[in-house]
Amino acid sequence: MSVPAIEIQGVRKAFRRREREAGAPWWKREWKEKVALHELDLAVVPGGITGILGPNGSGKSTLIRILGTLLTPDSGTARVFGWDVVKEALEVRTHVNRVSVEAAFFKELSPWENMVYAARLYGNVRRGTRRRVLEVLELLGLPRDVIDQPMKQLSRGQQQKVAIARSFLTAPSLLLMDEPTTGLDPRSKKEVQAVLETLRAEREITVLICTHDMDEAAALCERVLMMDGGRVLADGSPAELCREHGGATLEDVFMHLTGKRLEAEEAEEVAR
Ligand SMILES: Nc1ncnc2c1ncn2[C@@H]1O[C@H](COP(=O)(O)OP(=O)(O)OP(=O)(O)O)[C@@H](O)[C@H]1O
Ligand SMILES: [Mg+2]
Repeated sequence: MSVPAIEIQGVRKAFRRREREAGAPWWKREWKEKVALHELDLAVVPGGITGILGPNGSGKSTLIRILGTLLTPDSGTARVFGWDVVKEALEVRTHVNRVSVEAAFFKELSPWENMVYAARLYGNVRRGTRRRVLEVLELLGLPRDVIDQPMKQLSRGQQQKVAIARSFLTAPSLLLMDEPTTGLDPRSKKEVQAVLETLRAEREITVLICTHDMDEAAALCERVLMMDGGRVLADGSPAELCREHGGATLEDVFMHLTGKRLEAEEAEEVAR
C-alpha cells in the first residue's frame, strides 16, 4: 500500500486568548483556552479532492495550517506523505503548497515576477514555464496583459486567481486550498473549479480544499468532511452523506447533523 497523503492521529490544538465573562466589566478579561481542534484523526489516500465544509470557527484553517507547517499541534501527530509536520517540516514543505484568501505577494511586482520568485524558491523554473503560466491564467479567465502589470493594480479576484495559478506552478504533491473561491464571482468560481478538474486529470495531485460552498463541494470532491466546533461530524462521498442522513443536498446533511444551516450563517456573517 502507498503512504497516505495525510495521516493525522489525535491532533489537538487550542489557543489561549483573553475573554470577558458575560456581565463582567469591559476591563476584566480572563485568559481562556479555546479549543480549535479536538483530538482529530484523519487519513487521506493520495490523489483526489477532499473537501472540508464547516461554519466559521469550526477549525478548518487550523487544520490546513498544521498540515502546512505554519502551526504546531499541542498533541498528536500529523504526517504528509509519511513526513512528520513538526520533526520533518522541511520535507513537508517541499511536498505541500497552500493557497489562502489572504495570499501574500510583492505588490509592486507583476504576477509573472511573483511567480518566478515562488518557482525559484522551490527550484522549479524550467523552459516553457512562462507558456504554462499563461495557459493556466487563460484557463482562469485572466487577460494576458495582466501578467506584466504590478500586482497592486489587480482586483482582489484577479489576485486570488494569480495565487491559485502560482500554487499550480510549483507542482506540489499536496495542495492545501483554504477557501480559494470565496469572494469570487460565480463565473470565476466555475473557472477555478474547471482548472482544478483539469489539473487533477493531468497529474498526480492530492487536494484538500476548505469551502463554505456546498455546491462546490458536491461538484468537486469525492470525499467531504463536515466539521463543527473542532470535530469532524461526518465523512464520506457527497452521495454517501446524503444517503446516510436522508438529505437531498449537503446543506440538508449539515442541517440534520447540527440543526443549523451553513449558508444562513454565512449570510449573517456577511451582514454583520
Ligand atoms: N491565532 C489564533 N489565536 C486565537 N484563537 C484562534 C487563532 N486562530 C484560530 N483561533 C480560534 O480557533 C477556532 C478555529 O478557527 P479556524 O480559523 O480554524 O476556523 P475556520 O473553520 O477556518 O473558520 P472560517 O470559516 O471563519 O475561516 C476559532 O474559534 C478561532 O477564533
Ligand atoms: Mg478559515
